[in-house]
Amino acid sequence: MSAVPSQAFSFRPMNKDDVDAVMALERELYSFPWTPGNFSDSLHAGYSCWVYEFGSHLVGYAVMMLAAGEAHVLNIAIGLDWQRQGLGRRLMQHLIKVAREYRAEMMFLEVRPSNRAAQRLYDDLGFNEIATRKHYYPAHDGREDAILMGMAL
Ligand SMILES: CC(C)(COP(=O)(O)OP(=O)(O)OC[C@H]1O[C@@H](n2cnc3c(N)ncnc32)[C@H](O)[C@@H]1OP(=O)(O)O)[C@@H](O)C(=O)NCCC(=O)NCCS
Repeated sequence: MSAVPSQAFSFRPMNKDDVDAVMALERELYSFPWTPGNFSDSLHAGYSCWVYEFGSHLVGYAVMMLAAGEAHVLNIAIGLDWQRQGLGRRLMQHLIKVAREYRAEMMFLEVRPSNRAAQRLYDDLGFNEIATRKHYYPAHDGREDAILMGMAL
């Protein structure tokens, strides 16, 4: 489904003034959210951090590490009110373009086995399951594994 014209939305690099708005979405979306420090540290480290906006309204964001010919997506999210309209796919496609411009040869990400929506998106975009990282994520009943997915660029 792609209900919203893509030209109504734009990407721009995240900056430190965005962290409060990003955290509002982060807390809404994740049971175990990143902290403001996680975003500040990512900005400080020079990671590829993006906000996705409808006008000046934040609809999503992403954080990707680029190093040694590899791209690693650390966080990607679309606000609840904006999901299922093709925006997550566009945000991922933006990250793939950025990674290719950086000349990364491989792109990686972790996803919870319980997160079927995200897995379908990554699968659709050409990511493959590579490995399981045991007890990777915090969970309400202990820890949850992560599926490591990757794609050659
Ligand atoms: C994962 C996420 C970014 C997807 O964003 P989105 O804008 O809703 O996704 P899109 O509308 O672009 O959907 C792209 C594809 O993903 C899959 N998908 C997305 N949401 C889905 C859902 N609720 N159920 C099943 N499949 C889903 C579908 O394959 C979809 O393609 P389709 O619409 O042609 O069926 C969004 O659900 C999100 O932010 N979730 C919370 C944070 C999160 O889990 N981030 C990923 C961590 S690894």
